[in-house]
Amino acid sequence: MRIISTERSQVLAARVAEKLGVPLVETIFRRFPDGELYMRCGELDDETLIISSIVDNDMFVQTLLAIDAADRSANTLVIPYMGYSRQDKRFSPGEPISARAVARALSTGIGRVYVINIHDRSVLEHFSVPAKEITITPAIGSYVGDLRLKNPLILAPDEGAIDLASGVAAVGGWDCDHLVKTRFSGEEVRIAPKTIDAAGRDVVIVDDIISTGGTLATAARMLRDQGAISIHAACVHGVLTSGAYTRLRAAGLSSVVSSDTCESASSLISAANAIATTIREDAHC
Ligand code: R5P
Repeated sequence: MRIISTERSQVLAARVAEKLGVPLVETIFRRFPDGELYMRCGELDDETLIISSIVDNDMFVQTLLAIDAADRSANTLVIPYMGYSRQDKRFSPGEPISARAVARALSTGIGRVYVINIHDRSVLEHFSVPAKEITITPAIGSYVGDLRLKNPLILAPDEGAIDLASGVAAVGGWDCDHLVKTRFSGEEVRIAPKTIDAAGRDVVIVDDIISTGGTLATAARMLRDQGAISIHAACVHGVLTSGAYTRLRAAGLSSVVSSDTCESASSLISAANAIATTIREDAHC
């Protein structure tokens, strides 16, 4: 087996290659004058692991190109972050189910696919090849443990993220709750934990995706007003668009950390171990 990656998943791919003890293939990425993408992979084997986060439209195209470049081998695709997965329904008439469109396009030329902490598991059903989720929730819990907080309160920003938050909390036996938004009027909104008081607590908000950071910045300000001692954020996919990192730090978050499914300076948690373990286990099935 050899590993190739697209441009924005190079670090994670190298980490997985090291953990699996398989070669990482050098790949050249260029852009034609008209904006079209070009890539050239080094020598491949009869089995290829393609690691590619769909962090933007270029990475989607690079993923298609990488699969095609490896057309003579048996391919497994790992999508650490699957962009477009939040449009997993037709919310208004006339919209595409974008997650389905992406899944369908990426199902050609691969034998199976893995996605890290998918936004909604129903998205996996849109792939026409076997699709499996890999979770890095324990790695996030281990990171929270490294913060050495005294009796931290793990919070999900909404009820939908409670599975992730309770999985993280289970690592250290910490308290866990989710935030609830109560609207008193057009302007007056209160965000607070559903049952556990944040006063006097070190709080860690965990979410699958931090995109603009808007959700967490508002929550952090309110938790501070409610007497939280410190507020930290940890997420799987640090998309961090539109100045999200500075928005969050300015809102009073003591730390904002993500995994390397979206590679950035805040990627202090790695998905490499979870990916390598799953690939190794499934190879022995
Ligand atoms: C929403 O369903 C996700 O789980 C995140 O809560 C959301 O994507 C965060 O977005 P933002 O950082 O832009 O508030």
